[in-house]
Amino acid sequence: MKPYSYKNLFDLQGKTAVVTGALGILGKNFCRGLAEFGADVAVVDLDQQNTEAFAEELTDKYGIKSIGVACDVSSPESVASMVERVSEELQGINILHNNAASKSKDLDAFFAPYEEFSIDQWRDIMSVNIDGMFLVSQAVGKQMIKQGKGGSIIQTSSIYGIVAPDNRIYEGSYYLERTINTPAVYSASKSSVIGLTKYLATYWAPYGIRVNSLVPGGVQSGQNETFVGRYSNRVPMARMAQPEEMVGALLYLASDASSYVTGQQIVVDGGLSVW
Ligand SMILES: NC(=O)c1ccc[n+]([C@@H]2O[C@H](COP(=O)([O-])OP(=O)(O)OC[C@H]3O[C@@H](n4cnc5c(N)ncnc54)[C@H](O)[C@@H]3O)[C@@H](O)[C@H]2O)c1
Repeated sequence: MKPYSYKNLFDLQGKTAVVTGALGILGKNFCRGLAEFGADVAVVDLDQQNTEAFAEELTDKYGIKSIGVACDVSSPESVASMVERVSEELQGINILHNNAASKSKDLDAFFAPYEEFSIDQWRDIMSVNIDGMFLVSQAVGKQMIKQGKGGSIIQTSSIYGIVAPDNRIYEGSYYLERTINTPAVYSASKSSVIGLTKYLATYWAPYGIRVNSLVPGGVQSGQNETFVGRYSNRVPMARMAQPEEMVGALLYLASDASSYVTGQQIVVDGGLSVW
C-alpha cells in the first residue's frame, strides 16, 4: 500500500484493467474513467480493428498504455488467448471489469414473448451473459492468483437482475428499430451475475481478490420519448441515467477506495429499486 492518503484512494496508476464489452454504450465510458485515473487498459470486444482504434484513442488522450484485443467471451480458447496477451503486453492484470452482454443477433427471437421464447435463443444469450462471465473471471482470477497481489473484479448486472421489469413501460416503446421489452433470459442472466459475484467474493477472499457487482438502471441511449417518459415515471429521480453516471461506482469498486468491500452490489438506478 502507498502511504495513506484519502486523496489517492482512487489512484489506479501502475494497475492494468481488462474491460469486456469495452466498445458498448457503457464500456467506452468505463474505459475512459479507468484510464483517466491512471490504469493501463485492455479494450476487449468482438472486433479487432475497432478495439485497436479505441485503445489508440485512450493512449492519445490519457497517456496510458492500452491495447485492443478481439475476444468472444463465450469461447474458452478466445478468452485464454486474450488473458495471455494482456498479461504479457500490459504486465499482468489487477482489475477486471466483466461487462460484456449480448443484445442478440436475432432481435425477433430476443424480444419474443416468454411463451414462445426458444431454447436456442435462451442458450445464445446465456452463453455470453453468464458463461462469458464464468470464463473470463476464471481465466483472469487464475492470473491474479499467480501474480499474488490480489485484485478487483467488477461484474455488470442490471436492475432487472434484482427487480422484475414493469411490462407496462414498454407500451409504445421504440428502440433498435422496434418495440422492445426485457426478456426473462436477461433477468435470469443478470441475477446469476450477482450469485456468481457473491460466490467468488468468498472463494477468492483469501487471495485478496475482491469481487463486486455494478447494477445499472436504464441508461438513455436513443429510446423514443414514450419509453423515456414511461420509464422515468417509475424512477424516484424521474429520469433515466446518462452513461457517464455509471463510472463513479466502477472507479470506487476498482480502486483502494473500496479496499474492505467485497461480494456487494452497487445499485446505480436513481432509486428505481427502492419502492
Ligand atoms: N444500457 C443499459 O441501459 C444497461 C442497464 C443495465 C445493465 N446494463 C449492462 O451493462 C453492460 C454494458 O451495457 P451497454 O449498454 O454498454 O451494452 P452494449 O450492447 O452497448 O455493449 C455491449 C458490448 O458487448 C460486446 N459483446 C457482445 N457479445 C460479446 C461477446 N460474445 N464477446 C465479447 N464482447 C461481446 C458488444 O460488441 C458490445 O460492444 C451490459 O452487461 C448490460 O447488460 C446496461
